[in-house]
Order: sequence, then structure tokens, then C-alpha cells
Amino acid sequence: MISFILNDTTIETLQPAGMTLLDFIRYEKRLVGTKIGCREGDCGACTILLGELVDGQMQYLSMTSCITPLINVHGKHVVSIEGINGSDLTPVQQAIVDESGSQCGFCTVGFVVSLTGECLSRKISSYDDVVGAVDGNICRCTGYKSIERACNNIHSHLKEKDISNPIPWCSKNKIVPDYFNRIVERIEHIKPLPQSIGAVTIGGGTDLLVQKHDDVYESSIQGLFGKKGSIGIKVSEGKCSIGAITSVSELMESEEMIGMFPNLFNHMKLVASTPIRNSGTIGGNLVNASPIGDLTAFFLALNSSILIQNNNGDQRDLFLKDFYRGYKTYDLAVDEHLIKIQFDMPRENTHFNFEKVSKRTYLDIASVNSAMSIILSGMIISDIHISAGGVAPIPKYLAKTRAFLLGKILNEKTILAAIDIMQDEIAPISDARGTESYKRLLLRQLFWAHFLELFPEKFELITLKSVAQ
Ligand SMILES: Cc1cc2nc3c(=O)[nH]c(=O)nc-3n(C[C@H](O)[C@H](O)[C@H](O)COP(=O)(O)OP(=O)(O)OC[C@H]3O[C@@H](n4cnc5c(N)ncnc54)[C@H](O)[C@@H]3O)c2cc1C
Ligand code: FES
Ligand code: FES
Repeated sequence: MISFILNDTTIETLQPAGMTLLDFIRYEKRLVGTKIGCREGDCGACTILLGELVDGQMQYLSMTSCITPLINVHGKHVVSIEGINGSDLTPVQQAIVDESGSQCGFCTVGFVVSLTGECLSRKISSYDDVVGAVDGNICRCTGYKSIERACNNIHSHLKEKDISNPIPWCSKNKIVPDYFNRIVERIEHIKPLPQSIGAVTIGGGTDLLVQKHDDVYESSIQGLFGKKGSIGIKVSEGKCSIGAITSVSELMESEEMIGMFPNLFNHMKLVASTPIRNSGTIGGNLVNASPIGDLTAFFLALNSSILIQNNNGDQRDLFLKDFYRGYKTYDLAVDEHLIKIQFDMPRENTHFNFEKVSKRTYLDIASVNSAMSIILSGMIISDIHISAGGVAPIPKYLAKTRAFLLGKILNEKTILAAIDIMQDEIAPISDARGTESYKRLLLRQLFWAHFLELFPEKFELITLKSVAQ
């Protein structure tokens, strides 16, 4: 039986583990404040907060309920707009009213929930953080300037936030009702679900519930999301290992990862939106096997390996670059799961970069993406790994280009020669994200962009002219 707290009510339900939280909230509980827009995680109309007990305190994150399976909320606190409303408008709602941040109102519920989540966070919220909290909420009629003004207004309220105790502070300031203060003791009474083996493995569900919603609803489920944090991100003896169920948000906030990849935040901001990053996992991105998976491109360029385990506990290792066999096919038996991903920690002279081109800068999947890690000894390329997405049926590790570049002097001539080899190594197709020739051009430009970004003093923009010819 799945058990959780929905607003101020404890729920115990025998509904299918793969049912969407949105359907449960609206059709089983008749809480219709949460809206249905796209049902694909794209619009934010269905945003809820999911509260989890972390280090003795509740931590609330925004998620899109339309692609959250019921199993993922077991033992947690689900907050819909009805669980935020009080007798008066909350300061978040008042800010939207004061700044004319709503017209038809269809999106407004999602904005209020996301912004309330930011108020509850255990950090000092900058103006950019407040605006960033609604990066998964789309409004078709108000105009974003008035919503930005509302964010600014909310930001001014948060200057006094007690970040060590945000929940009592928020309830004192009427941002959330008083019952939030008593959730911890109620959550502690919910027992974890017993270990089960199901036909469908689910991480965050952000790919599966978009692509195969009906199959998930009807199947037995093996949920991994509830076991979040059990492996985490560990650095030891020159290796970094990351649990497959680590979410994209956990990855981008990890101090270990930021220490190794100072640009991580900017790179990960290009992946989906806050609510999707809060639920989407690394393992899900790798096993989804999309040729344009951003995390897949990121980890391929670190020459990562993956640890796989079957239901008997037998384990095996393989390089991520050897995992993919053809379009959406890979080396994983039905009773196997991805447990973790590992890579050698970057050395002092390792340089790493990730690039992505999509139709929109944010909240869009890539037309083409690429990552590169390179180690230089003087100007000699002593090691290099390059990945490319959107240019082949599988996420592509550019093995031939690497073989050519190893031991070469890094200069324009070498890069131009490598581009020729790279073009032979890929096989893009024309589709909604661009023609074959456009994708070839994009990869060529992204490859250059790695060098412009990593070695600006050596490669200036004029080198781009020679590429464009
Ligand atoms: C609106 C929206 C925007 C998005 N934008 C981006 C984007 O910009 N870039 C991008 O790369 N992706 C994007 N995605 C795709 C998705 O969010 C990511 O791929 C995410 O990392 C998937 O993780 P998940 O845990 O939700 O996967 P799930 O949906 O839970 O699972 C995906 C697949 O992996 C399998 N699986 C999951 N975990 C494991 C495991 N540990 N072992 C074995 N199998 C497993 C599942 O069975 C399933 O086949 C977007 C999705 C949405 C809805
Ligand atoms: S309905 Fe659009 S994100 Fe859920
Ligand atoms: S107010 Fe109408 S969609 Fe945002």
C-alpha cells in the first residue's frame, strides 16, 4: 500500500504504483486546483511540492505531478495549492496580485507552488534563485515582466529568511499554513515500502511517463526513486562514483562535483527545468539511451564506466561507451539495474567543457550536444575524450577522432584535420531538430567552441572564420 501525506491528510491507497500523482490528486481526491496542461512535464501547470525528510528536516522540491508516478511519493509530503491556501492570500499570492502577474490564471497555481518551494528552501534566495524557481512554469497570456516583478517582490520578503529553520519562519510569515510544522513527526511514522521486483524500473519517471504512460500504469513497478541518497556522490582514491538514482539537481548542487567542474551549474542549467531536474535521475538519462541525452554526453566525455547489478546481486562493470548497441538498444538484461557511474577525477591539467544547441536555450532538448575532456602536456594532447549527441543513432563517443588527436600538437591545423575525421565518424539524420547538413555544421562549431571556451588565449574568434569557409 502506498502511503504519504497529501497537504494535511494522511493517505493510504491501493491505486496502481504507476498512476500519475496528477490523476490521483484531481480524480481520486478532487483537488482540482492543480491544473492539466501538457501532461509531458513541459508547462508547469501541474506543479506540486514534494517534501522529503533529510537530516531531520523536511526538504521541499517542486515537481511536475503529471509525470510523477504514485510510487515515488511514498513516505513523503505532497503539497498541492490547496495545502498552501489560507484564509488570506499568502505573501507569494499577494505579490502576484500586486504586480498583475496573472490574467487567465491557468498557470498561476503552478507559479505560486514553485515560488513557495523557493521560500521553503534552506538557502539564502537571491533574485536569480527566485526567478530560476519558475523556469519550468510557462505562462501564455500575462507576460513575464510582471511575473519577474512579482519575483522581485517575493525576493524582498526572503531577505529575512531563517535558513536554518525555513519552515517555522515560513509559517510565521504566513507563506505556508501552521500544519507544516508538524509534518516531520507524521512522516516518520510511515514505513518504507518492502523491496519488490517489478516489470518496469522507474527512476524519476520523467522519460517513462512521457513516452509509455499507459504501459507504466498497467505494469508492476520497481521504484528506485524512494531510495535516493542511499549511494550519493563519493570521491575517493582518484575516482568519483555517483549513484544512478542521483537526481540532476543533486548532481549540480554537489560540492564535490562543483569542485571538479567549476562550470557545472551553467552546464546543468541547460538540462530541462528545475522540477524535471528535481526528479530526473542520472541512471534514467543513461538507460533512456536517447542519442541527445545531455548527461550521457557529459559522462561519455569523462570516459566513465557503469556498474550494473542483477536481481541476484551479481555485478559487472563496463565502459559507458560500450553500453549502447543501436537506436535505444543497450547492454542491459531485464533483471539488471544500473547502480552507479564512475570516472577518474579530473587532474590539475584536465580541461572539460560541455556545449548544447537547442531551438530554445532553456527547457529544450538538444539538436546537437557535445562534451570534451582534454589533458595537455605543454601543447601536446596527452589524453582526450569527446562525445557528440544528435549525430548518430546512439550517444556517440568519438573514438576515431580521439585516436587521431592523441599525441598531436594542439593548434588550428590539428583541429581542422580532426574535424574531417569527426565528420566521417558521425551519421546524422534530418528530422524536426535540423537537417543532416545543419547537424554536421553544428557539431563542427561545437567542437571549435570547446577550444574557444577552454583556451581563449590561444584560439581567438578569428579562427572561426577559417571554420566557416
Ligand atoms: C520537460 C522535459 C524536459 C527534458 N529535458 C531534457 C534535457 O534538456 N536534457 C536531457 O538529457 N533530458 C531531458 N529530459 C529527459 C529526462 O528528464 C532525463 O533523461 C532524465 O534524466 C531521466 O531520468 P528519470 O529518472 O526520470 O528516468 P525514468 O523515466 O525513470 O527512466 C528512463 C529509462 O531508464 C530506465 N531506468 C531508470 N533508472 C534506471 C536504473 N537505475 N537502472 C536501470 N534502468 C533504469 C527506465 O526503466 C526507463 O527505461 C526532459 C524530460 C522532460 C519531461
Ligand atoms: S501538465 Fe504540463 S507540466 Fe504537467
Ligand atoms: S495567466 Fe494565462 S497562462 Fe498565465
